[in-house]
Amino acid sequence: MSVISISELQRRLSRFSRLSLADLPTPLLDCPRLSSVLDGPRIMVKREDQTGLAFGGNKVREFEFSVAPAVDEGYHVLLHGAASQSNQSRLTAAVAARLGLKAIMIGQKDAHAKPVNGNLLLAHLFGAEVHLVESPTEKEKLIKQLKSEGQRIYNTSSDGYYLRSLSYVDGFLELWEQFQNQSILPDAIYVCSGVHTHVGLVVGSSVLGIPLRIVGISPSPRQNAGANTQLAEVANHVVRMLGIDLTFSATDFESYGEYAGEAYGLVTPACREAVILAARTEGLLLDPVYTGKTFGALIDHIRKGQFARNQTVVFVHTGGTPALFAYGNEILVDV
Ligand SMILES: Cc1ncc(COP(=O)(O)O)c(C=O)c1O
Repeated sequence: MSVISISELQRRLSRFSRLSLADLPTPLLDCPRLSSVLDGPRIMVKREDQTGLAFGGNKVREFEFSVAPAVDEGYHVLLHGAASQSNQSRLTAAVAARLGLKAIMIGQKDAHAKPVNGNLLLAHLFGAEVHLVESPTEKEKLIKQLKSEGQRIYNTSSDGYYLRSLSYVDGFLELWEQFQNQSILPDAIYVCSGVHTHVGLVVGSSVLGIPLRIVGISPSPRQNAGANTQLAEVANHVVRMLGIDLTFSATDFESYGEYAGEAYGLVTPACREAVILAARTEGLLLDPVYTGKTFGALIDHIRKGQFARNQTVVFVHTGGTPALFAYGNEILVDV
């Protein structure tokens, strides 16, 4: 039973401040040659890699909501720090440029920081002040120092955290409209997500009372069994922000950490196979850190017989493709 109607959900989402950054709606496309090569279900791709700004990706949609408070509250700086090839750092820098704010990236001095390429190159191009550090302690020290200089710094990782998930409740509405227009009822939706994209899609479908199998693939290995509990906690926060009386628990989430392999950012054989297969079968670019691993998981589930040929799976392409240029040697090992 539907908890609220589509129009009521739209009304509640419209109460949140929102920037206009993304080209929406993103396309939902068929991949018939991939379905055929895998002898699997109909495979459709929701092209969140085509959200437009700066090579796109799910962060552009997330930032429409999550960076809006930075503008409303007069922050001077957008900051982000993660791996050297972070998509979020690239898009933090691009959004700062678009909004006329300063960008600071505190990346890790990791294996993909040199030569300067991919996302890191783009962060420089967008004019970010780039610092590469050896450790989390060094990063925290630097953030403290920057804050003490009196700049109002908005950290796109932690500030607006729940708004990032809320953005994908809106994303679900867009997807659902496309399903309805194209008469599709998918048997599963696959998405690469640490937290937000997965949570937003699950909250969107649940508050509308639409039972869908939404499978989240984590880009990082899971250290403990509590990951789904954490997803449920974020979902509970998001429904409260929307004023909806619904409670999620860990069992409302289906997610897998094992497809990440040994560590975040390390290419697995299944990821390499997926990236090459999508490129050579559909001219579709996946990335080596997120969507390649997620499509690898889908291939595994198809090979294990989870889907019949008359079923439909939607793969949410969350972006990340600039990292390909920094991972060339790990993807094309024979070249
Ligand atoms: C390409 C790509 N896919 C998926 C994710 C996961 O995003 P989230 O945890 O916000 O759903 C990220 C960012 O971390 C990303 O850059």
